Amino acid sequence: MSTFNFRDREQEGEQASEAAADAPTSDAGEPTYAPALHADEPTHAPAPHADEPLHPQGEVPDPLAAADEEAATRESPGDEVPTREQAAGASRVSVVDEQPPRPAPPAGASEEEYRWHTYRVYPSGRPDAVEFIDTYKAFGRARILRGLNMGLPEGMVSMILGPSGTGKSVCIKHMVGLLYPDSGDVLVHGESVPNMADDDLFEMRKKFGLLFQDGALFGSMNLYDNVAFPLRQHTEKGEDEVEDIVMRRLNEVGLGSAREKMPNELSGGMRKRAGFARALVLEPDIVLFDEPDSGLDPVRTALLGELILEIHRDMMDEAKAKQKERLPTFAVITHDIMSARRVADYINVLWRGRIVEAGPAEDMLNSDNPFIRQFLAGESQGPLTMD
Ligand SMILES: Nc1ncnc2c1ncn2[C@@H]1O[C@H](COP(=O)(O)OP(=O)(O)OP(=O)(O)O)[C@@H](O)[C@H]1O
Ligand SMILES: [Mg+2]
Repeated sequence: MSTFNFRDREQEGEQASEAAADAPTSDAGEPTYAPALHADEPTHAPAPHADEPLHPQGEVPDPLAAADEEAATRESPGDEVPTREQAAGASRVSVVDEQPPRPAPPAGASEEEYRWHTYRVYPSGRPDAVEFIDTYKAFGRARILRGLNMGLPEGMVSMILGPSGTGKSVCIKHMVGLLYPDSGDVLVHGESVPNMADDDLFEMRKKFGLLFQDGALFGSMNLYDNVAFPLRQHTEKGEDEVEDIVMRRLNEVGLGSAREKMPNELSGGMRKRAGFARALVLEPDIVLFDEPDSGLDPVRTALLGELILEIHRDMMDEAKAKQKERLPTFAVITHDIMSARRVADYINVLWRGRIVEAGPAEDMLNSDNPFIRQFLAGESQGPLTMD
């Protein structure tokens, strides 16, 4: 089942590339969305990722191992994997001095604690809509983000996966400026969120659609008014237009006939779908889902995953048709590994305040890192334990 879906997503990726070709150009005259076809054309490789080290500290670079790693980072879906010899030949020029050193563990932590952090980032071929750059955040003595470098590629459905309490929700709050980093930066479409003036922050938040765990509906309003709320609050649209938009979104999530219902008359799954409809009415460029599947049974979780994919696909088509400046970027936080396997284009695995590895789902599911393998397979045996 997952194989089918991944193939499906690959095809969609091709469509996305078409969209990219049609996309408007930036001031610099570069195509804004031009997907880098190969990792060695890193036109949009974000600075923090370009700096990502590939070698453990203190290791003398072994040309063959380096070539393997380079080959791994070059590999993109559908590319042929070069042989070890080819890779060695190709990388001969750059092995010695182009690999930055492995970053030191955060203050107070040991190398051992970060031994599974390869910091490897498989290329997505897309610019990042959201970037965390060396972000640190502590609450009192609890150090949560500890030098986080993470990207959410534009036009993709990304997952942020990590054990409970690692700071996934904290990440979301940084993206929308509800929390500020102690140091480092968070960029949305290239602009620094912590450095934004209040007015700009207010505008920037309109780019986001947020879906909280329980849908976060207003209990005193019916479904229709809940979904209409952001339109009435943030736009000058007349009621006819509001109704068109609201009904389109409600129908899309299968709630067209429930418009008069109050939130307490809805099941958990319906509330989530209603929250999803409301998150979309302002046509956000970035939609964040914080555990959309918590509390749902496996079938409804699967259906919600399908809905997320379907809506992302529709939004991609629409962005292309309307030649929008941005492609829709979705970020889903989940504990449900099966959802991740079904839905993700791109996977970030977060642990101990840093990304262990990140990349397109296919690369991540084939990772040879024991921590990533354990986590993506949801197995009890492996480096991750309860402590
Ligand atoms: N505003 C806050 N003040 C103090 N501590 C906080 C605050 N927000 C989050 N934390 C702490 O930061 C840590 C990470 O919290 P976060 O909610 O991001 O975890 P999570 O990865 O989303 O976990 P889960 O998967 O269980 O939702 C937790 O230990 C939490 O107690
Ligand atoms: Mg959370």
